[in-house]
Amino acid sequence: MSLHPPTLHRPGPSRRFCVAPMLDWTDRHCRFFLRQISRHALLYSEMITTGALLHGDAQRFLAHSAEEQPVALQLGGSDPQALAQCATLCEQAGYAEVNLNVGCPSDRVQNNLIGACLMAHPQLVADSVRAMREHCSIPVTVKHRIGINGRDSYAGLCDFVGQVHEAGCDSFIVHARIAILEGLSPKENREVPPLRYAVVEQLKRDFPQLEIILNGGLQSFEQIDAALGWADGVMLGREAYQNPWLLAEVDARLYGDMHPVPSRFEVLQKMRPYIARHIEGGGRMHQVTRHMLGLFQGLPGARHYRRELSTAVHHCDDPLELYDQLLEQMHSRLGQDCQ
Ligand SMILES: Cc1cc2nc3c(=O)[nH]c(=O)nc-3n(C[C@H](O)[C@H](O)[C@H](O)COP(=O)(O)O)c2cc1C
Repeated sequence: MSLHPPTLHRPGPSRRFCVAPMLDWTDRHCRFFLRQISRHALLYSEMITTGALLHGDAQRFLAHSAEEQPVALQLGGSDPQALAQCATLCEQAGYAEVNLNVGCPSDRVQNNLIGACLMAHPQLVADSVRAMREHCSIPVTVKHRIGINGRDSYAGLCDFVGQVHEAGCDSFIVHARIAILEGLSPKENREVPPLRYAVVEQLKRDFPQLEIILNGGLQSFEQIDAALGWADGVMLGREAYQNPWLLAEVDARLYGDMHPVPSRFEVLQKMRPYIARHIEGGGRMHQVTRHMLGLFQGLPGARHYRRELSTAVHHCDDPLELYDQLLEQMHSRLGQDCQ
């Protein structure tokens, strides 16, 4: 029996468990790896700006493998027409959802009116969402903070969500802390402003018809279960990346899908042909395996595994041979029964 109340039925992918968009981290290789562990988790791309997509190498930015699905692409921008064009490109490229970034606090993006600074411009976000919705039929969602310095009242948050909802967005991913737009680095902005889950819970009470996904600081199923007592879904960032084996329990616990979970070794084995193809195509093994360093977190040999994949890999002639040796070493260290 499920611990959680049934979630409202919505079109598009389930957002019950999401892996957060993370620049430099959730690239296509990372997503392919995570998909070997959970079939259902919704995976978000790194943020791609409208400028990069419309004036850069769109093919490369949009490239992904069908095996990563369900995957959402996150856009950064605030020009409704450019966002609309990009939403069309996302749909044509096969993404299951397009998400707008209203949470990133970096100075670089603020100068271009991208990210958390847009919380001060709800009308512009609403216009952007409306334009995106008119140009694609996949869901358009927004990821945002509970406020920014100088505009952090609950009334301000409700005004933002209300206006954006009226423009056609039904799903909000809420990072449960404010962003401080001057004086803190993006990293500090993920740690210093306190987490305030109660604010997000109140938002769900005041907008019960909306899908509200809680993000920020979630690290365990105990916390996830507590959040799913009131939220429609959860989004994990750093913990999912640093301890990817957490995803091994997601399908059974949160989706009721009891298919056998592959062991860590089976995951390594499944990654091998993907890595081989990547190398054949001119890529480097490290570009894939750098996302796999946390697989054995907390187990004996985890340090050896990390070291081999992060350091030794740069000094060997045949990276796949190193990979095979490492698989054997970890297997003999941990034994068959280690899931
Ligand atoms: C390395 C890194 C890069 C990030 N890049 C993005 C991004 O591109 N877009 C975004 O909306 N949030 C980005 N974030 C924020 C995460 O999506 C998430 O909101 C934040 O880490 C809080 O969740 P957590 O406590 O589960 O990590 C990034 C976070 C990290 C650690």
